[in-house]
Amino acid sequence: MTNSTYLISPSLTKEQLQLENTVRLGVMASGSGSNFEAIAQAINEGRLNAKIEVLIYNNPNAKVKERADRLNIPTVLLNHKDYKTRKAFDKAIVKVFQTHQVQWVVMAGWMRIITQELLNAYPQKVINIHPSILPSFKGINAVEQSLEAKVKVTGCTVHLVDLEVDSGLILIQAVVPIFPDDTADSLHDRIQIQEHRIIVDGIALAVKKVDS
Ligand code: GRF
Repeated sequence: MTNSTYLISPSLTKEQLQLENTVRLGVMASGSGSNFEAIAQAINEGRLNAKIEVLIYNNPNAKVKERADRLNIPTVLLNHKDYKTRKAFDKAIVKVFQTHQVQWVVMAGWMRIITQELLNAYPQKVINIHPSILPSFKGINAVEQSLEAKVKVTGCTVHLVDLEVDSGLILIQAVVPIFPDDTADSLHDRIQIQEHRIIVDGIALAVKKVDS
């Protein structure tokens, strides 16, 4: 199975992914930010009619910050350690997004559990990407979980967010094979290639589904 033949479902045409109006996105990320960059690249290449208004990151050392600086995308560091409760933290997140007039929120490797605070401000408008075929292997270490389970295929999922972790309406999934000599790193690398495709299509799908 070569890269181009990996199964992505639903498989959509350019026309089906075309958004009429430019969507104002807010992205939340905690780590490397390769999905964040994939979104930015799709926007720059005209594949996604959107603009990333602001990136919120919670870890001062997150590599995603360097990517945002290079791409000239505004960033705000909100360190969860500075907040007493998850609710107070999410309140601060919402404030930043509202200041930037964000319409849709993308959690691109956000390693914190969110609260109703964010969902009340953005009902049905928060998107997440997870490195498994949900509902299998929810939570952290999804890639390791799939190796331990000795399944032969895994993948990634883009879904709307609700209060339960890695739950909510599934928008698009990609299937990735697991090879006998895979490590968590080699498998995650293979999954991420597909993540960078479905995160873009997933955003367009979500906007089309909810906004129209
Ligand atoms: C991705 O594998 C995503 O599915 C998970 O966290 C990882 C983030 O990767 N939620 P990156 O920071 O976008 O490279």
